Amino acid sequence: MLSATDNETITRTGPGTHVGELFRRFWLPALLPSELPHTDSDPLRIRLLGEDLVAFRDTDGHVGVIQNNCPHRGASLFFGRNEEAGIRCVYHGWKFDVSGQCVDMPNEPAESDFRSKVRATAYPTREWAGVVWVYMGPPGLEGDLPRFEWTGVPPENRYIGKYVVDANWLQVIEGSIDTAHTAFLHRGPSTLEHKTAPRPMTDFSRDIPPHFSATETEYGVQVIARRDLPDHKTYWRITQVFLPSYSMIPADPNGNASLVATVPIDDVTCYSWKWTWHPRQAWTDEQVADMAGGSRRRIGGITYPELVPGTLRTAANAANDYRINRDWQRTLNFTGIAGQSEQDLAVQESMGPICNRTVEHLGSTDLGIIATRRRVLKAARDLQTGVEPPAARGGELYHLRSAAVTIDSQASLEDDPSVLAAMTAQA
Ligand code: FES
Ligand SMILES: [Fe+2]
Repeated sequence: MLSATDNETITRTGPGTHVGELFRRFWLPALLPSELPHTDSDPLRIRLLGEDLVAFRDTDGHVGVIQNNCPHRGASLFFGRNEEAGIRCVYHGWKFDVSGQCVDMPNEPAESDFRSKVRATAYPTREWAGVVWVYMGPPGLEGDLPRFEWTGVPPENRYIGKYVVDANWLQVIEGSIDTAHTAFLHRGPSTLEHKTAPRPMTDFSRDIPPHFSATETEYGVQVIARRDLPDHKTYWRITQVFLPSYSMIPADPNGNASLVATVPIDDVTCYSWKWTWHPRQAWTDEQVADMAGGSRRRIGGITYPELVPGTLRTAANAANDYRINRDWQRTLNFTGIAGQSEQDLAVQESMGPICNRTVEHLGSTDLGIIATRRRVLKAARDLQTGVEPPAARGGELYHLRSAAVTIDSQASLEDDPSVLAAMTAQA
């Protein structure tokens, strides 16, 4: 449980909030390049960290992310003309380039230099590794882009998706950190091609609850789950949580890896970003079609939801109760909901727009969540005292994997070479 103050602090990300300032120290995934498909393509409304913005790709291909309201008298630049290396407000024709500088002011006398004094808020962007990143913090404090393994693989080896979740960013990322829910929420086949459940749905006797621990790191938290096996072996799962809001489970046995992130749109809505990749293999056309169409099969341990075509909204949503089928729930899988992403969405959104953490009862499997909240709050408070988050300047800290390894019970997790090898990025 959190105090009301801490819950308020950790969930608020607008300008001037403590956690909002923390997010603003990092390059954040903002857009898929395909959302601005070509030079001078249609401007796009986006909202990030509670700020209404307009994104556009200019004539030279550079992406601008600029304040929604024109600095002149506030008309939305969404209606602007994207032309000749800038966006021109349709109200009185003022034009701004991707840096936010006013470059034309046709309703002012030609000799006036007023335009050189007017600047719109515009945030720096980088188009890199299949993502348009944005930095919304103080000018001059831009750090490094995070060198995740997937940023170093060929484009055909990775798949990237994003969609909107109607819930605060923290409860969505907490769903990924809390791996203990998998044995319940995701129990049973979710492809619904099966006719009956493979085993009684409420027989939990073969599940061995893991022992959780967590280690604070420079980049975030390592959540460690230990299961003691027969024959003096121990199975460890090390899950990485990266500041400000990424979570990475271990790769699957085929070497497919995944990463998720939540980026606040505002305090009651967020983007759920997902990446799946293989360090050495390209996805097949079939796999890509599967992921793009709402994959029900887990790849790298995750799935992508089915979206309403042409939107970032999921087809299964609160309005249709995530298409729950009570017959399936009786006979087939734990929830009666098809798709792992949809199952996650149902529970995460059902907690309310901003989960009230003052009334929780946290158990032993919630340790990773507790450690993550503590880490985020600490980084936010450090920043308030002038201590910059080292991870924002240490892109290499993100060049790391999560790991699932079985080692001798006597061996130490820190020193075992197979653990270090499993955590080393391969691309
Ligand atoms: S409001 Fe944009 S130019 Fe006047
Ligand atoms: Fe889940």
